[in-house]
Amino acid sequence: MGLSCSPRKHGNTEILIGEALQGAQREGAEVELYSVAGKAIEPCDGCRACNETGECHIKDDMQNLYNKLLEAEGIIFGTPIYFYSMAAQAKTIIDRTIALNRPERSLANKVGGVIVVGGSLGIIDAVKDLYFYIVTRQMLPANFVAAYALAQGDVRKMEQGMKAAWELGRQMVQLAAKKFEYPSEFRKRNIAYGTHTH
Ligand SMILES: Cc1cc2nc3c(=O)[nH]c(=O)nc-3n(C[C@H](O)[C@H](O)[C@H](O)COP(=O)(O)O)c2cc1C
Repeated sequence: MGLSCSPRKHGNTEILIGEALQGAQREGAEVELYSVAGKAIEPCDGCRACNETGECHIKDDMQNLYNKLLEAEGIIFGTPIYFYSMAAQAKTIIDRTIALNRPERSLANKVGGVIVVGGSLGIIDAVKDLYFYIVTRQMLPANFVAAYALAQGDVRKMEQGMKAAWELGRQMVQLAAKKFEYPSEFRKRNIAYGTHTH
């Protein structure tokens, strides 16, 4: 699954993700591109009810996206850079995945790839943040594609970058075939420690 977090329809992020999905298809995968453009996805309101129920109470387009994320064996997180960081749409979706907190309802063991497009500064920050997310979700990290492009569709001129996206798709299918399984005894842990964690 390719998750395009650009609000710009048919923009550079979406184009590169599309290329990656073609690579994945060539490797035998069933693929789907999900674009946030035109979708209504509210920010997490911090109610923490999902901690008890495993479900998010906000009934918006994220509910459908939860199902798609859970069904996917591999997810490419794609975002443009907005003000030196991932776009707010990407962060909003990431925050909402706090509801995917059950062993049978989580992103663990899925393959995670990254595509980031920016015109100037901030690409590496988003790449690092997305990788950290992938690792802490106990996913298997695949490659990343970082692209410099500004105007809509400019990435198409970037022959090597387009090829790298295609290869990322192929790689993700090969990694998914390895059926990565995070050892269950280490599944639950605190991310950081302090007096409140005992
Ligand atoms: C609100 C806004 C802020 C942006 N800020 C940055 C930035 O800080 N750094 C950067 O490299 N590019 C920045 N850009 C440029 C986009 O990342 C670039 O145009 C990218 O190709 C957009 O991808 P898309 O076509 O998938 O939406 C910004 C664009 C917008 C609309």
